[in-house]
Amino acid sequence: MSAGVFSEHGLFVCFEGGEGAGKSTQSTLLRDWLVEQGRPVLLTFEPGDTPVGKELRRIVLDPATGELSDRTEALLYAADKAEHVDHVVLPALDRGEIVITDRYVDSTLAYQGAGRTLDVAEVEAVARWATGDLRPHLTVVLDLAPEAGLGRFDERDRIEGQSLEFHQRVRQGFLDLAAADPDHYVVLDARAAIDEIEHAIRERVAPLLEER
Ligand SMILES: Nc1ncnc2c1ncn2[C@@H]1O[C@H](COP(=O)(O)OP(=O)(O)OP(=O)(O)O)[C@@H](O)[C@H]1O
Ligand SMILES: [Mg+2]
Repeated sequence: MSAGVFSEHGLFVCFEGGEGAGKSTQSTLLRDWLVEQGRPVLLTFEPGDTPVGKELRRIVLDPATGELSDRTEALLYAADKAEHVDHVVLPALDRGEIVITDRYVDSTLAYQGAGRTLDVAEVEAVARWATGDLRPHLTVVLDLAPEAGLGRFDERDRIEGQSLEFHQRVRQGFLDLAAADPDHYVVLDARAAIDEIEHAIRERVAPLLEER
């Protein structure tokens, strides 16, 4: 696998982590902080932040979908990513914007690779192909025991309803990805207070803003 493609324009920041770890909370707080500074920023998410992606999201998350072949699921996520990168992420980076995404390729590697029974290298090849191997300049991993994360919700979707062991493999999947590339990752304990996590993220993002 190549070392990936990093956009020369803009800044690409990704939030990853298990269910209820605080990705939506922290990605929104980071967006608001950057907007206050007058920076051009786009907050987006996977799966589902394109017209076709919205349909794909419904299929993969709706409990009414029932059993899907693991390969089908991986391909549906990959299709969402291709739409997202081509029509949302890359155009904004080319405009010099800061793109913050709530989930990206690592979620596929963790959920469809480590979490399911697929060969991680094969899943990665598909996801990298789908995204033109575009990598975030920084990925924030919000690390939380699945028992704690799932406890932050009442209702569960198709993925959230998987076993605890599944979610434990997913958690370890994120940690392994971060450990393999510390320059492009920060792992934060998601049990900390929201404002503490927010400040730790700002500290890591600030130098990247100065470089630009
Ligand atoms: N550090 C924190 N401590 C305690 N509660 C938190 C913390 N961060 C977020 N929460 C709460 O936990 C719940 C889930 O947070 P959030 O929706 O941001 O997680 P998420 O990672 O986006 O979840 P999902 O994977 O389902 O999208 C929300 O009610 C949120 O207010
Ligand atoms: Mg969320």
